[in-house]
Amino acid sequence: MCGIVGYVGNRDSQKILIEGLKKLEYRGYDSAGVAVFTEKGLEVRKAKGRLAVLEERLNEKPLVGTIGIGHTRWATHGKPSDVNSHPHTDSSLKISVVHNGIIENFLQLKEELIAAGHTFVSETDTEVISHLIASLYKGDIVKAVQQAVKRMRGAYAIAVLSEFEPDKLVAVRLASPLIVGLGRGENFIGSDIPAILEHTRDVFILSDGEMAVLTRDGVELMTVEGNPIRKEVFRVDWDIATAEKAGYDHFMQKEIHEQPQAYRDTMRGRIDENGGLVKLPEIPLSPEELRAFSRIHIVACGTAFHAGMVGKHTIERLARIPVEIDIASEYRYRDPIIDRDTLVIAVSQSGETADTLAALREAKRRGAKVLAITNVVGSSVAREADYVIPTWAGPEIAVASTKAYTSQLIVFYLLGLYLAQSLGTQDEAFIREVTGAMRRLPEQVEEVLKQAGRIKRIAEDISRHQNLFFIGRGFDYAVALEGSLKLKEISYIHSEAYAAGELKHGTLALIEEGVPVIALATQDALFEKTVSNIIEVKARGAYVFGIANEGDSELAKSVDEVLHIPRTLPLLTPALSVIPLQLLAYYASLARGNDVDKPRNLAKSVTVE
Ligand code: AGP
Repeated sequence: MCGIVGYVGNRDSQKILIEGLKKLEYRGYDSAGVAVFTEKGLEVRKAKGRLAVLEERLNEKPLVGTIGIGHTRWATHGKPSDVNSHPHTDSSLKISVVHNGIIENFLQLKEELIAAGHTFVSETDTEVISHLIASLYKGDIVKAVQQAVKRMRGAYAIAVLSEFEPDKLVAVRLASPLIVGLGRGENFIGSDIPAILEHTRDVFILSDGEMAVLTRDGVELMTVEGNPIRKEVFRVDWDIATAEKAGYDHFMQKEIHEQPQAYRDTMRGRIDENGGLVKLPEIPLSPEELRAFSRIHIVACGTAFHAGMVGKHTIERLARIPVEIDIASEYRYRDPIIDRDTLVIAVSQSGETADTLAALREAKRRGAKVLAITNVVGSSVAREADYVIPTWAGPEIAVASTKAYTSQLIVFYLLGLYLAQSLGTQDEAFIREVTGAMRRLPEQVEEVLKQAGRIKRIAEDISRHQNLFFIGRGFDYAVALEGSLKLKEISYIHSEAYAAGELKHGTLALIEEGVPVIALATQDALFEKTVSNIIEVKARGAYVFGIANEGDSELAKSVDEVLHIPRTLPLLTPALSVIPLQLLAYYASLARGNDVDKPRNLAKSVTVE
């Protein structure tokens, strides 16, 4: 998730681009750049780092012009660096492109273009677009862009400038957001409303497969096939803060609702469209090399650790490789048994958590290979690992991790399937059944999100309590741990999560009249056992809120409230069952008047041991 802006008018475009990018930095902030038409032609300035670095360079050597495009980056392909920053140009420097999204078939297109004599300078998927457009340009930039997007697969919002037609800005949307801002004698584009709100409240919101051609005099709208379209002008009545949250009240609420897209993006290009098998080019190892790993260790902290618990069960169940999971701060001090046949998986949203980094370094020091699962491509964990599988959840601003956690689950499912595929521990029919079910998860999450109103009511009841329990078995226990952490860290309610079968060995003593218990019962094979544990707490007066699969009518008989989630494979259920728990924590924190996005005593990335 990056931020792109564009301007065609009579004012200083550099200033407008930079101001727009500042409003989009929540979308990505590891590098930035602009391209502006100056008297010398199309000039590009870009820099690794926060926007301020680019601004400094521009203050030294400003770009004077009235048409330009700009970009602030959240790296997916190619680590943050000056050369990987956007805009990207073709070899003649006459075509310049900024892009938000992922081009799935960029490697194949790149090979073709190199064979045709194009020279690439960056590691990005985006640079392919500028070369592709240049290769197709025959005197009409709009046509060249239309032909190029026909060849591109994936998600993209792009803006294109060309020295051949310097008064035109061409923009296209497919699966990544793009809006057009309407002015007098000037027009704007942006990934999101905050980018242009200072200049206009009249916008066109482009839909998938639509493009816009901007000049000073107007905006032409058409499909990527070239058919003209008419659109309603959307009048924006939000303030900037609300706009940054896309109309949600908090970043956490926004990020919870971004999970369907985060699932799609994290799966993008990793499940073969036709065959349904898994592709993970990030692990360049042969089946023989993968077979050499006799054990796997997962190390992480907090929410990432909870994703690792689902990862452990998933890999053991699918690939039959023994997996140990450790809290990173404990790992290196327990003298772990590691050798060169050990694969250590370090999981970290930020990629900067000191405990996880130290565990990673210790594992490498002892000869293990390290795979990082992280949301920040250029982070320390990513740089120091041998292999990196990025989650493509986009920047996560709220301290309480939500979409990064669920995207880590998606990566663990893909990794478990890929290992099973490579090692032959599961047949292809089963792999296809699981990837088929994974592709239905985004819509199913949207179904769960529709129950937010009801969850809000339950959360308001629960928020009056100071002590609370979560219970579950198997995958449900792993999700119960995450639900409990979410509630603790933002509502400040003391809650504990227990393997449901463990309660009767002591903790049951804490259950008394009215104590809330959140019980997850989504694992069919463990359903009856879980229900009997629920009956144990009910018998001691607990108020039980149960989560079960669609179509179940049994659980309601044993609990006070039951919420049903869409049915999927037991293995994949955590990707759905955690959503109500995220919302429960969000609304309980709200009911208690807490600062939801910046809870007390916590930081988004814990860079000290
Ligand atoms: C989760 O909501 C918390 N922010 C915290 O537990 C977090 O998961 C932990 O600090 C690990 O962070 P990381 O994923 O960036 O390494």
